[in-house]
Amino acid sequence: MGCKMNNSIKWIQLTLGHLSRNKFWGEDPDTQYHSVVASSTLVKDGDINILVDPTLPVEDMEKRLKLYCGLDRNDIDIVFATHFHTDHRIDAEKYPNAKLYMSEESVKEVEELRVSGGPMAEIFLNGAVFDFEAAPRHMTANVEVVPLPGHTLGLSGLYFTSDGKKILLSGDTIMNPEYYAAREGYFIDASQEKTRASMDWALANADIIVPGHGDFFYTNDPAEKKILWRKLNLCADGEETSVLVKIGKENIIINPVLHGHILREAIYDAWGLDPSDITRVICLKDDPKHTMDLKLMSNAKYYIATSTESSMGFESWISSDEFPIDIMDISGDPVCVFESGGRKIAVTSLDKDDKRISLDADIVAAGNGVKIL
Ligand SMILES: [Fe+2]
Repeated sequence: MGCKMNNSIKWIQLTLGHLSRNKFWGEDPDTQYHSVVASSTLVKDGDINILVDPTLPVEDMEKRLKLYCGLDRNDIDIVFATHFHTDHRIDAEKYPNAKLYMSEESVKEVEELRVSGGPMAEIFLNGAVFDFEAAPRHMTANVEVVPLPGHTLGLSGLYFTSDGKKILLSGDTIMNPEYYAAREGYFIDASQEKTRASMDWALANADIIVPGHGDFFYTNDPAEKKILWRKLNLCADGEETSVLVKIGKENIIINPVLHGHILREAIYDAWGLDPSDITRVICLKDDPKHTMDLKLMSNAKYYIATSTESSMGFESWISSDEFPIDIMDISGDPVCVFESGGRKIAVTSLDKDDKRISLDADIVAAGNGVKIL
């Protein structure tokens, strides 16, 4: 992924996103367990930069734009909100050169809410909501606005082709991979039936979905797989990618580079887990940068991905039928490779564009970001 692509459309997710409550983790709809963060994405069609669903204060969003794309707030030409809910348009008015768009139906919904009033109006009619204009059917030459009613009736996603793959930024009609796998909408959805119909449209028309509150995933991923996986971070501030893998009851972290509350939050956001739920940790290297917070994951057994002796006394990881995570050695740098839903995922400290890894992998979670091949 990243901002380097060989056709005109580039996209990069700027936040991983998570929900305030997730029924698939046994969380109750009446309780807010967690702050809410939507999935924000930058889409670049030629020279036009579209910021989709900005969910962090402009200063934080700008930090990510700089880090991942070399852009600042002045470079944003369009802010597109998939729907009018506040968490998808934070500080939208603070991008000085941007026009603000949401679907025509969403603009109408805002108007209706203004007239009807009530508690929903109080929650949602704040900030720049009246500055949004009705989006044209094509946001840019190659980026289409597609109706995905369900979460709200006016919700519309963005749909485009990038590197031969059809990408859909779905907004909250598809909340995250778990809600999609179960074909279920969120508890506040305007129409569960419409949500399911929109999910069917996504399956028929898109290869990859960036959901409203979670990491991207493939539409045809089987719901049941031996190995499930999630990224724990978006490779910020020179950090490498850390990955959480689920095999049966085992929760395995590959490349533990996060620490403290960041690690704790990332594990919770990914699957509602606590660091003490982590059973195994595979370190790519055994220097302090690559072995963060061993004590926090108090029940985990530590392994090193190399066959050389570990200075910290970790056993070498050996792939097995039970835990089929293979190690590939590239000039002394280990790459962990596993298969999930028929796709090969490689986790490494190396550069995501290193040709030696990409030969055999579908997704590379690397030392400097994630690449889809
Ligand atoms: Fe949302």
